[in-house]
Amino acid sequence: MAGVSAPEFWTDLYTRGGDGWELGRPAPALVEFLEATRLPPGRVAVPGCGRGHDVLHLSRRGYQAVGFDFAPAAIAAARARAKAERLAVEFEQRDIFTLDRDYANTFDGVWEYTCFCAIDPARRAEYVRTMAAILRPGGWFLACFYPIRQRGGGPPFPVARSEVRRRFAGPFRIERAEVPFRSVERRLGQEWMVLFRKTC
Ligand SMILES: C[S@@+](CC[C@H](N)C(=O)[O-])C[C@H]1O[C@@H](n2cnc3c(N)ncnc32)[C@H](O)[C@@H]1O
Repeated sequence: MAGVSAPEFWTDLYTRGGDGWELGRPAPALVEFLEATRLPPGRVAVPGCGRGHDVLHLSRRGYQAVGFDFAPAAIAAARARAKAERLAVEFEQRDIFTLDRDYANTFDGVWEYTCFCAIDPARRAEYVRTMAAILRPGGWFLACFYPIRQRGGGPPFPVARSEVRRRFAGPFRIERAEVPFRSVERRLGQEWMVLFRKTC
């Protein structure tokens, strides 16, 4: 059985209906945040975008959004959805840990939702380095971290606020952090929304 760092692991979940994370709509925390806060327009990367609901939402809000996922089933579904809506968004089938090779200092923003908790926790430092590398200096990194709890198997692997603060310090500083009002019911109280700024 492939581990979480291999696309086959995720493809298997997508094809046998093991995709319990699927909301069928954009993340409520993202919708809420963008209603209240105007982040400047520009190119936004969405790592581990799944079927692309958040990418499409960002596009509808005027961002040039690009979704990345290494599971072919996810990218195919996301492209089909974009085509049906006639939205000019890009989806790339790709391992997010390779993004710095082609996208150094490229993006104005990154939206993170349920990718950080899906990767092998041993690769979290690499994840932070990669996200910092693809953002332009001064770029924003908006994340809704889930599941905020101490223990549990995975994926999703649990996320602690203290770990987030420690891992993102250095390349990023926190501008805002709050518990979102809107979550899907089963995730209520387990989400933490953080807006970071790339410091260099
Ligand atoms: C828990 S799902 C969440 C999907 C989406 N963010 C959502 O909220 O519906 C995690 C996604 O990350 C993708 N993923 C995990 N590790 C990845 C990697 N190293 N590179 C690209 N995609 C990855 C998986 O294929 C899967 O689609």
